[in-house]
Amino acid sequence: MLFTGFFINHKESKELSVLKQNELVKIRVNNLTKKFGDLTVLNNINFTIKKGELLAIVGPTGCGKTTFLNCLSKLMPTTEGEILIDGEAADPRKHNISYVFQEPTCLPWRTVRENVAYGMEIKGVPRAERMKRADEIMALVGLSSCANLYPNQVSASMMQRIAVSRAFAVRPDLLLMDEPYGQLDVKLRYYLEDELVNLWRTVGSTVLFVTHNIEEAVYVAERVLVLTNKPTSVKQEVVIDLPRPRDLVDPKFVELRRQVTDLIRWW
Ligand SMILES: Nc1ncnc2c1ncn2[C@@H]1O[C@H](COP(=O)(O)OP(=O)(O)OP(=O)(O)O)[C@@H](O)[C@H]1O
Ligand SMILES: [Mg+2]
Repeated sequence: MLFTGFFINHKESKELSVLKQNELVKIRVNNLTKKFGDLTVLNNINFTIKKGELLAIVGPTGCGKTTFLNCLSKLMPTTEGEILIDGEAADPRKHNISYVFQEPTCLPWRTVRENVAYGMEIKGVPRAERMKRADEIMALVGLSSCANLYPNQVSASMMQRIAVSRAFAVRPDLLLMDEPYGQLDVKLRYYLEDELVNLWRTVGSTVLFVTHNIEEAVYVAERVLVLTNKPTSVKQEVVIDLPRPRDLVDPKFVELRRQVTDLIRWW
């Protein structure tokens, strides 16, 4: 009896712990392979992302970072394997996903303000709330003065800020960012890195942040995923267990940045 009792409890606790683990997982990538004709880009990729995690992905140019985000957001079909969000096949109609593309896109016939509000419009946020949130976020990123201009009247950095604002304003459950700060000057980049961290902490979004900038990855992320060259797999994960706000010259920060840099040297 005692043995059986123990056995049942043990089994139950094992099942419970599996259930609990699943509850904590936001994205599960199982044996993901993506080919374009004969070219294998992503090669049997496996990893998970926890709910509410801010994960940075770094990898050599052309290794398939954008392709991965495109597969995740269903803009592209996968060749093999699966991507699950909350335990279900990724589905942008069901999951509240925002995607900041590597090439910022704007609707040319809409003003800057209407472009910032566009994502909220799609999600059905009422007009008054849309405009309020758009104005708040434009003030944060320094776009207020060009709210009534059209995209062809603004600079590349402003276009990027519009794309970032549009994504933030939706308060997404899952935020995909593909080198979102590449066009920005250093000061604005630092500022928006902090804004991203603030948003992530207040909204609790799960964030996937693709970047070439190692310092940026170590500054914002809880974990950095380093990818290999094509055919691409996960080379290593580096956990960034530093308190926030992070200090760029803290010896622990410098050491983690060095670790990621060393992994990248061997691409
Ligand atoms: N639609 C497509 N058809 C054919 N090949 C493609 C397509 N999209 C991407 N590729 C190829 O897949 C590979 C991965 O491209 P991808 O843009 O995902 O790389 P990346 O890691 O985002 O690069 P970067 O760091 O330069 O942004 C490249 O070799 C690219 O040429
Ligand atoms: Mg890319």
